[in-house]
Amino acid sequence: MDCPVVRKFLSLGGDCAEEQEKKGLEKSVKKMNEILSKSSCHKQANKNSHFSLVEVEIINAKTKQKMCTLERVGNTVGISVLKELFQKKYPQFYTSRQSFRLEPRGKSLKDNDTLADLNLTNECILYFKDLGPQVGWSTVFYCEYAGPLLLYLLFYIRLPFIYGSEYAFKPSEHQVVQIAALCHTIHYAKRLLETKFVHRFSHGTMPIANIFRNSVYYWGFAAWMSYFINHPLYTPPCYGDTQIYTGLAIFIFCELGNLSIHLAFKSLRPAGSTKRQIPKPTMNPFTLMFNLVSCPNYTYEAGSWIGFALMTQTVVGLLFAIVGFMQMAQWALGKHRNYRKEFPDYPRTRKAIVPFIL
Ligand SMILES: NC(=O)c1ccc[n+]([C@@H]2O[C@H](COP(=O)([O-])OP(=O)(O)OC[C@H]3O[C@@H](n4cnc5c(N)ncnc54)[C@H](OP(=O)(O)O)[C@@H]3O)[C@@H](O)[C@H]2O)c1
Repeated sequence: MDCPVVRKFLSLGGDCAEEQEKKGLEKSVKKMNEILSKSSCHKQANKNSHFSLVEVEIINAKTKQKMCTLERVGNTVGISVLKELFQKKYPQFYTSRQSFRLEPRGKSLKDNDTLADLNLTNECILYFKDLGPQVGWSTVFYCEYAGPLLLYLLFYIRLPFIYGSEYAFKPSEHQVVQIAALCHTIHYAKRLLETKFVHRFSHGTMPIANIFRNSVYYWGFAAWMSYFINHPLYTPPCYGDTQIYTGLAIFIFCELGNLSIHLAFKSLRPAGSTKRQIPKPTMNPFTLMFNLVSCPNYTYEAGSWIGFALMTQTVVGLLFAIVGFMQMAQWALGKHRNYRKEFPDYPRTRKAIVPFIL
């Protein structure tokens, strides 16, 4: 975030002659305090802390070498402003690439933390870590989800080089294969639409390397599942329609549940903010799951893939459900821990992802 007020103030301090500076500084500090208290580019500092100018030495967290000193930084200024000052010295490190820490291996400081909040006064040291090239969070999601949607359908229509020319462009006649293609397509189309219209992410960017890692997972599993389900030798489930429609009912139920939770998350966060609240059920009955687990969107997502695996009766389908569940369980446990840490009144009976169990 750019803060012209701070920039103006800093340049003022640098230009003044020594005597004028002595006289003017007190006045400027007073004025600065007034302006900053109205400005949106910093967080209101600790009520007990007084405004002061701080010299911040920036050390490279990896090499431990000094990179620069940011002089005369107001202690009520947020880390986001510090990042802009640092970018002026190192333009290659744009703000979303920067992470500042109190310790070389410590946690990244938040953009709205102020030096006063962190009890940093007069002279202090911050460690800088380069997070590497960044890419927008939504871009990662579009890339992750558009791939599986299209890849699955290439096997469904049976491109000539996949199963041989005799099957080219002749989709399977098994009803379950058609239903599976529809479910898979709807699932990823839903995710793309949610990325565009529902999710309100709190992080703007993530390291570009994540695109490759996540895409390999989603694209790989979609192609693998689709290859077997659309294979000319594929055989429908042992228990026929009963199994197919049970799996389909579970899938539809869980997709609706997942969408409902995402809409509930949206309503918890005002547009443009990164506010996080304790999630609670809304008027939508699917959200009652919030009474039981912290991340019901993951519970429903896992349920969808269990339904899909049951419906198609494929080992790869089951494997995707298991791997996806393991990954989401790990995230859910982390989010659950954070909720409990952040909100002392967080409901004690809630589990992370599996009601009453995990
Ligand atoms: N099959 C699989 O292997 C697999 C794996 C992972 C995810 N998924 C699917 O992808 C979906 C999205 O995944 P995700 O990991 O991004 O889900 P998520 O972290 O639960 O978040 C979904 C959205 O809701 C916001 N949000 C979460 N908790 C909130 C709260 N308490 N208050 C306000 N906003 C909140 C998140 O913002 P933040 O940016 O602040 O987090 C994000 O924008 C999942 O629900 C699931 O359907 C599938």
